Amino acid sequence: MTIFAPTKMEVVAQLVRASVCGTEGRGFEPHLPPNKKGVQKWIPFFLFMTLQNMKNQAAIEKRRTFGIIAHPDAGKTTLTEKLLLFGGAIQTAGAVKNNKIKKTATSDFMEIEKQRGISVATSVMAFEYGGKQINILDTPGHKDFAEDTYRTLTAVDSVILVIDCANGVESQTEKLMEVCRMRKTPVIIFVNKMDREGKDAFTLLDELEEKLDIKVRPLTWPIGMGDRFKGVYNIYDHNLNLFQANKTKREEEIVSIKDLNDPQLDTLVGEAFANELREEIEIIDGVYDTFDREKYLSGEIAPVYFGSAVNNFGVQELLDSFIEFSPSPIGRETDSRFIEPSEPKFTGFVFKIHANLDPKHRDRIAFLRIVSGKFERNHFYNHVRLNKNFKFSNPTSFMAQDKSVIDEAFPGDVIGLYDTGNFKIGDTLTEGEKLMFKGIPSFSPEIFMELENLDPMKSKQLEKGIHQLTDEGVAQMFIMQPGKRKIVGTVGQLQFEVIAHRLLNEYGANCRFVPKNYYKACWITTDNKEQLADFMRAKTSYLAKDKDDNLVFLAETTFLLAMAEKDYPDLTFHTTSEFKLES
Ligand code: G4P
Repeated sequence: MTIFAPTKMEVVAQLVRASVCGTEGRGFEPHLPPNKKGVQKWIPFFLFMTLQNMKNQAAIEKRRTFGIIAHPDAGKTTLTEKLLLFGGAIQTAGAVKNNKIKKTATSDFMEIEKQRGISVATSVMAFEYGGKQINILDTPGHKDFAEDTYRTLTAVDSVILVIDCANGVESQTEKLMEVCRMRKTPVIIFVNKMDREGKDAFTLLDELEEKLDIKVRPLTWPIGMGDRFKGVYNIYDHNLNLFQANKTKREEEIVSIKDLNDPQLDTLVGEAFANELREEIEIIDGVYDTFDREKYLSGEIAPVYFGSAVNNFGVQELLDSFIEFSPSPIGRETDSRFIEPSEPKFTGFVFKIHANLDPKHRDRIAFLRIVSGKFERNHFYNHVRLNKNFKFSNPTSFMAQDKSVIDEAFPGDVIGLYDTGNFKIGDTLTEGEKLMFKGIPSFSPEIFMELENLDPMKSKQLEKGIHQLTDEGVAQMFIMQPGKRKIVGTVGQLQFEVIAHRLLNEYGANCRFVPKNYYKACWITTDNKEQLADFMRAKTSYLAKDKDDNLVFLAETTFLLAMAEKDYPDLTFHTTSEFKLES
């Protein structure tokens, strides 16, 4: 990478700008002395700062951090693997697949834990392609780990959504898209398995718009499908990619078709398919607006691609377009101000915590997304919640299957920090500024159980264990008010098995879970203190506090929730803690 040094004039211009504007918190803190001699004294410092900023800027522009989301079985793992093959990050197929949490292993939690352990290595997969550093953040497909996926989405800048052409939009897809919409995350849609019979492409587009509540714009278009699948026409680049079932090839045969009336099209796909394509493209051009990147970036419109991941088909087009359109690292909102990635001071937040497999060593890996500035190994950073400074001697980066210790990392990067229990999800590290990143959501769990201690001699261990596990995000914990009874909430049954097993093996605490019949946990906000007091008096047995001391109403049925909303109109009941974003 070439870094061009700025001219003397540019340095002086920077100096003058900084002295006039004052740039608190933006890397130019020392205000300049007004006389010329003083200015000269500062030149080496500013030259250094400018070079640093340019290096950071180049690193930011180079990075693309995204997640692939899909309903289980749509082809997320296969697509991830093909992208890694294109990027040269893995050499053989199957490497990612082996790490996948199998959907069938619903009760074999040890196996799942093992796989979760292995999947640390693939939690972030970085590779270079087309001059960009691509960071793919893995999102577990297993529905019981959906909360993990939601949190990972806070650390990405864009998303590729994979749809199975036969199944169309499935339940998990809708939920995941809801999270993306909430965050205005740019989305590219990949309609997969075109080598199989599926729904008509226009029907699929309608379904996408309707169920996902987002406008779509096809940028490639399939010619036939299933046994009659001939390939895809690239509407954006005006070329034709002819389909060959091939699971290993990397190169695609692209034929340039400048004009759809080119008779070469008839020769290549047959007259009937060529005519059908001409008609369909005419309809598309008539019905859909031209693709507008700005609208994609603001999450209003999703470009759609068609292909077959297992056959490596349409994957390169997807990757090339991804590099062209997708955003470089974007800033994040905090409780005090918006942080731009270009700011020179380091900030980052923890979005995922992964327990290490060895039960004797309770250390964990906290995954930190860098939002601004440069993270450096062995530098002290402020853990804002604890107001303590920490330095990290072994920050880890992940390159496909390899982990390695890094010396520096830039906005968009995700690094692993070894942790002995200091971090919880949402924690922020800075160079000293007191701020917390917003929008690490907790969603209302779907299954609730009361935690019961089976060994009173081990209550301390149980207390510590359940706190640490819920800090990791394995489940949510609510403390009934008043009192100490603990309700554990998850999105899947599997977590209870995992928690009980880990409490016993890692903390020596024996417990059991007693099912509770709650429908939703609702976070409450209001300005009306009187009404809140009335509500609290009336609902004493259904009130709890979450781990951050927020008041939560545990509603038993939809009806009771609706009644509460009607009877206490000034209270707002939120089923996600994301409401904190607005506050
Ligand atoms: P997931 O991570 O979203 O859960 O899906 P995954 O990639 O594991 O794919 C699910 C199944 O769909 C796999 O088959 C995979 O081979 C198949 N698949 C993926 N892409 C395509 C495609 O473009 N066309 C066709 N026909 N199939 C595709 P499996 O039988 O579950 O696993 P395997 O034995 O093939 O590995």
